[in-house]
Amino acid sequence: MIKIYAPASIGNVGVGFDILGAAIKPINGNHLGDCITVTLSNKFTLENKGVFSNKLPKDVKKNIVWKCWLKFCNVINENVPVSIVLEKNMPVGSGLGSSACSVVSTFFAMNKICNNPLNSQELLSLMGELEGEISGSIHYDNVAPSYLGGLQLILEDSQIISQQLPCFKNWLWIVAWPGINVSTAEARGILPKKYTKEICIKNSRYLSGFVHSLYSKQPDLAARLMRDFIAEPYRIKLLPNFLKTKKEIKKIGAMSCGISGSGPTIFAVSDDIEIAQKISLWLSKNYLQNNTGFVHICALDLKGARIIG
Ligand code: HSE
Repeated sequence: MIKIYAPASIGNVGVGFDILGAAIKPINGNHLGDCITVTLSNKFTLENKGVFSNKLPKDVKKNIVWKCWLKFCNVINENVPVSIVLEKNMPVGSGLGSSACSVVSTFFAMNKICNNPLNSQELLSLMGELEGEISGSIHYDNVAPSYLGGLQLILEDSQIISQQLPCFKNWLWIVAWPGINVSTAEARGILPKKYTKEICIKNSRYLSGFVHSLYSKQPDLAARLMRDFIAEPYRIKLLPNFLKTKKEIKKIGAMSCGISGSGPTIFAVSDDIEIAQKISLWLSKNYLQNNTGFVHICALDLKGARIIG
């Protein structure tokens, strides 16, 4: 038996559409992610538990975990009968890499229970493929941080899919999920197919400047450069009062604020715990739409997916 935890993540991180992602963990020590328990058995079974398991499809073959299991067996060319328990603690369609948490924990657990037939690049590549099947196109900015931890820059080089960037240890990441769902496939579908040369240059300038400021240790510059010209302008309408919320959060003192992944979770950055608490309180009062929504003050989760049992 093996139990794996895979953490939530913030895709895009404001400035790196599809190529920057950050794994996060609440600073109060709670888990924010899914767990998978795998036991070798004589046939495939899947039990869904956890706060958000009631939102999962009833048909097991539509469950992401089944899809991962099938893909893994096909790739290693062996049928591995297992009993799986999924603890679905992340809301589906939240913008916090919910599907990635399930994908990463399942592939990681299957690989471990089979004595690691695949190396980490092969595993990450499968995770990206599966994420692509769910959302319409391959993007690694949730699976890579959830699997490898920290702030990841997606390279998709012939040998390296993703590498970790340095980040500011004192940055707090406040995330607020309003309690409503946005389909990633739809949020990707509304984006333009083409962008102007000006937007491409501006995006490159901000992203390269952001990476430069991480390496040259300039936190204020880094925060100022966390701006999204690719997705945010088109996704504003998917979030409740996004522009007003952003303005208020900035007024409280956030260094940066943006859409987490494809939304509707909003994220803010602060290096001051008192400001982070004020932002958290404001978001709890004003951004949540129902009592399933939540706000967490987080740090980067540098460990990524891990064995917890
Ligand atoms: N980069 C992806 C997007 C993340 O913004 O569509 C999805 O969570």
